Amino acid sequence: MNRRVFLYGLPTAALSAYGYARFLEPRWLEETQKNVATGRKLRRPLRIAHISDLHAAAIVPISFLESAFRRVLAMKPDLVCITGDFVTTDNDFDKPKYESALQMLSAKVPTFAVMGNHDGGVWAAQSGWLPNNNYIRELVTRGGAQVLHNDAAKIEIDGMPLWMVGVGDWWSEELRARFAFEKVSNDGAPVIVMNHNPDGKEDCDPFRWDVMLCGHTHGGQVMIPFYGPPIVPVIDTRYAVGLNPYKDRWIHTTRGVGNIIGIRVNCRPELSLLLVS
Ligand SMILES: [Fe+2]
Repeated sequence: MNRRVFLYGLPTAALSAYGYARFLEPRWLEETQKNVATGRKLRRPLRIAHISDLHAAAIVPISFLESAFRRVLAMKPDLVCITGDFVTTDNDFDKPKYESALQMLSAKVPTFAVMGNHDGGVWAAQSGWLPNNNYIRELVTRGGAQVLHNDAAKIEIDGMPLWMVGVGDWWSEELRARFAFEKVSNDGAPVIVMNHNPDGKEDCDPFRWDVMLCGHTHGGQVMIPFYGPPIVPVIDTRYAVGLNPYKDRWIHTTRGVGNIIGIRVNCRPELSLLLVS
């Protein structure tokens, strides 16, 4: 290789790669659609939009989240599930603007949510952030979403009954499955459980559920070709990303919408539509 081409080419390539990872891929939303067969007798598949890890911050502006919400609405979901990490730190976002953005979504489609480790609690407090999730729960509730914090709700979609369950975050030491599933009866209706961190699945194991929705991993966020992600913040990496069987059930872990370090490589932000039958 010509020495001059090498000297000038290498920094240009490095800059281009950085520009792509920093400014293009983190905003390059991918819409995915997956069939989830539960074996329950449903008249038609339920259209569940699953998004997660919005991480509103200076590097993930509310305007980007609004564009993501508009695309979620265009998927024509029956309901929307948001599985935690609404923010990254305690003060890097505009609360009223965030509430309005969430209202735009929840005004059109029933929206349910759980809290993640960044939303406040034992883990977040270690970084000097929110010591509990009251502030973010209030923000999300004012945004019109129903926060299920170790709680359940029975709903009806087009005449079809469905249980929605939400558990507290595992890293925040707030996962109380016994309380979350207390109301869920043995009525044959499908059970969807929202659980931020897939490592909390064993805590939910003794209870009745069909599909678990998780986030937390960001799909690895940086996927090195032929190697994979250098860091995945879970113990059981089998459930780090995608739709995977768990015994006779399903776990769906989405790559999330936002990010925490401002870059994504080979791991685009994701808006998922699950067709649950
Ligand atoms: Fe996250």
